[in-house]
Amino acid sequence: MSRHVDTPRTALVLGGSSDIALAALRRLARDGLERAVLALRDPERDTERLTAAVPGVQTSFVRWDANEPDTHQQLVHDAAATLGTIDVVLCAVGMLGHHAGVTMAPSEVDEMIRTNLAGPAAALAAAADHLCAQGHGTIVVLSSVAGVRPRKSNYVYGATKAGLDAFALGLADAARTRGVAVIVVRPGFVRSKMTVGLPPAPFATDPATVGDAIATAVARGRSATVWVPPHLGPLFTVFRWLPAPVWRRVAGDR
Ligand SMILES: NC(=O)c1ccc[n+]([C@@H]2O[C@H](COP(=O)([O-])OP(=O)(O)OC[C@H]3O[C@@H](n4cnc5c(N)ncnc54)[C@H](OP(=O)(O)O)[C@@H]3O)[C@@H](O)[C@H]2O)c1
Repeated sequence: MSRHVDTPRTALVLGGSSDIALAALRRLARDGLERAVLALRDPERDTERLTAAVPGVQTSFVRWDANEPDTHQQLVHDAAATLGTIDVVLCAVGMLGHHAGVTMAPSEVDEMIRTNLAGPAAALAAAADHLCAQGHGTIVVLSSVAGVRPRKSNYVYGATKAGLDAFALGLADAARTRGVAVIVVRPGFVRSKMTVGLPPAPFATDPATVGDAIATAVARGRSATVWVPPHLGPLFTVFRWLPAPVWRRVAGDR
């Protein structure tokens, strides 16, 4: 069973410039988070903005790209050296591309699968290995409702999230007896920099709402699946099994 650390003090964030990740850190800081390592592609570009975005948290920045699998183990090793123990690993890496399926070039499909699935899964394997050896920790994985039922406009993104979601659910079972909890977060539309310029979907939320849901689940210290907002859980359980013609009408042009 996962061994619960009452108050997570340290976090490693994969995709450290994510709006949702920063909101989660702000909320975790209210609960006692003290230090975080933010792993991101361009730390120089963002250091000042990101430091200001998480007041009260001592932040370190590491240059890291999800698409460089040879670096994942070193990243976790270096984060552990900086933080001591790693209480929380939050994976918020993701790209939405130009939010289209059928018009995506093969190279774009390949890039999205590597960025949203292959890279994060490999990095999470390195993180899980470390947390299991450490004997405690919580892994938070940003999945999406888009992975539950594919839509014509974003089925490539949805496919990557379905894969990562399955990986995380399996990891939760595999790590359960090693003291590690895995929280799979399935938000609907979130108004973040990822969705700038897109018309909000029904039940759109903001990063702070997702951050609150993440921190609440982390505080419980158990593996869980978290829908944001919560009623998307029952809704998508129904959507998943709708006959295709009905689903196409529900999804419309989205
Ligand atoms: N916004 C939504 O509607 C929504 C809904 C459901 C799930 N999600 C998921 O929630 C997570 C966070 O999204 P968000 O809304 O906070 O959007 P965001 O602010 O755009 O965050 C996405 C992050 O992924 C990083 N990233 C992209 N490619 C990377 C790579 N190759 N290596 C390392 N980092 C990379 C980006 O870094 P750069 O700053 O370098 O680009 C950015 O920090 C994502 O996994 C997303 O799929 C979002």
